[in-house]
Amino acid sequence: MRALCWTGAGRVAVRQVPDPELRNGHDAIVRVRLSATCGGDLPLLAGRAPYLADGDVLGHEFLGEVVAVGPQVHRHRVGDRVVVSSTVACGSCWQCRSGAPWCCDNGNLVPEASELAYGQAVPGAFGRPTAAGGFAGGHAEYVRVPYADVGAFGIPDEVSDERALFAADAAPAGWLAAELGGVHPGAVVAVWGAGAVGQLTARAASLLGADRVIIMDPREDRLRMARRHTDAETVDPRHPDIPAELRERTGGRGPDICVEAVGPAWDGRPRSLAERLTGAAERPPAVHEAMHSCRKGGTVVVLGEFTGQVDAFPLGAVGAKGLRVRGARQHGAGQVPTLLERMARDELRTEHLATHRLPLEEGARGYALFRDRRDGCVRALFSPDLPPAG
Ligand SMILES: NC(=O)c1ccc[n+]([C@@H]2O[C@H](COP(=O)([O-])OP(=O)(O)OC[C@H]3O[C@@H](n4cnc5c(N)ncnc54)[C@H](O)[C@@H]3O)[C@@H](O)[C@H]2O)c1
Ligand SMILES: [Zn+2]
Ligand SMILES: [Zn+2]
Repeated sequence: MRALCWTGAGRVAVRQVPDPELRNGHDAIVRVRLSATCGGDLPLLAGRAPYLADGDVLGHEFLGEVVAVGPQVHRHRVGDRVVVSSTVACGSCWQCRSGAPWCCDNGNLVPEASELAYGQAVPGAFGRPTAAGGFAGGHAEYVRVPYADVGAFGIPDEVSDERALFAADAAPAGWLAAELGGVHPGAVVAVWGAGAVGQLTARAASLLGADRVIIMDPREDRLRMARRHTDAETVDPRHPDIPAELRERTGGRGPDICVEAVGPAWDGRPRSLAERLTGAAERPPAVHEAMHSCRKGGTVVVLGEFTGQVDAFPLGAVGAKGLRVRGARQHGAGQVPTLLERMARDELRTEHLATHRLPLEEGARGYALFRDRRDGCVRALFSPDLPPAG
């Protein structure tokens, strides 16, 4: 089959790779209709992820049609249209049964990298082949989906592909942030980052009853989009003191819940495997601002995917301001079914985020547009069915 592979720092290309096969009774094979880029793919693209190898298939946000199921798959049949959660969780270990599938003990085929970076293995994910899980990604014609009853979700007929695709990762991530932050009626929520994840966090906060949502981003075009498609207010990106502005807008207290949906920045290439494993060269552009802005006793949610150690973390603020600091990876099961229902009822719309749709063969162009945020690109979508241009 054809698949969009990582071929070296900053490079991707379509290659012929073996078709995936059912390897376990709980597996399904999905024929991909659409996949998308995500901010979480940018460190991979740049060659910063440990153990990412030439030829690994990228892409953790995808949907398609079931073409084969193992004998232990009961919720899906051949022909079903499904969206697949980016996180691979087993659904039956102690963590999964305790309501924390983002801590699943079984979803990772290659636990060494996360054991080194965090002390314990974290769940697997698609499209991060050996760095986090060992599962080939969705920028391909077909994908093997392990634990298909847990991680794949049937899509209601009323929901278009462009909408349902966001239920793979960005929408449940935003929903999870709002839930972990404890959004409640009357709350004031501030969100850093107006990419798809930040905008869907803002929308989740409104749907959960937040009184006000304020979103920040250096990109005026993304703020315009957020004003148009969510109830959020925005802050002028040229403002010299964002925490002061947020206090000003909240009676001097600061927002109750501050969500970081930006992710890491870095200078230059990682020089060694140790640097890639620990994330020693990563900078967190928005974490400090979120910690400083949050009201005393409030909650900071870090959605951004950092590798390991990030220097100068404002640890003092946790005790001095009595902050709750939360983070997690979205995991599908807790959020996707209700998000798909909200999509079917038209409460949650995501099409505007699907700014570009390209054949797999234009993967390099799609990733460059997304990485450089050119031409208004918020998500580049790839369809293996679209014929290559020319
Ligand atoms: N925890 C999860 O389950 C989960 C799921 C999906 C994505 N993520 C993470 O969420 C992050 C965002 O994802 P995305 O797809 O929206 O990425 P994106 O790259 O499209 O958007 C990030 C946005 O942050 C903005 N930004 C940069 N510096 C900023 C600053 N100092 N203040 C405010 N905004 C700033 C950028 O201009 C950009 O618009 C990534 O780190 C991704 O890995 C986490
Ligand atoms: Zn993602
Ligand atoms: Zn599990």
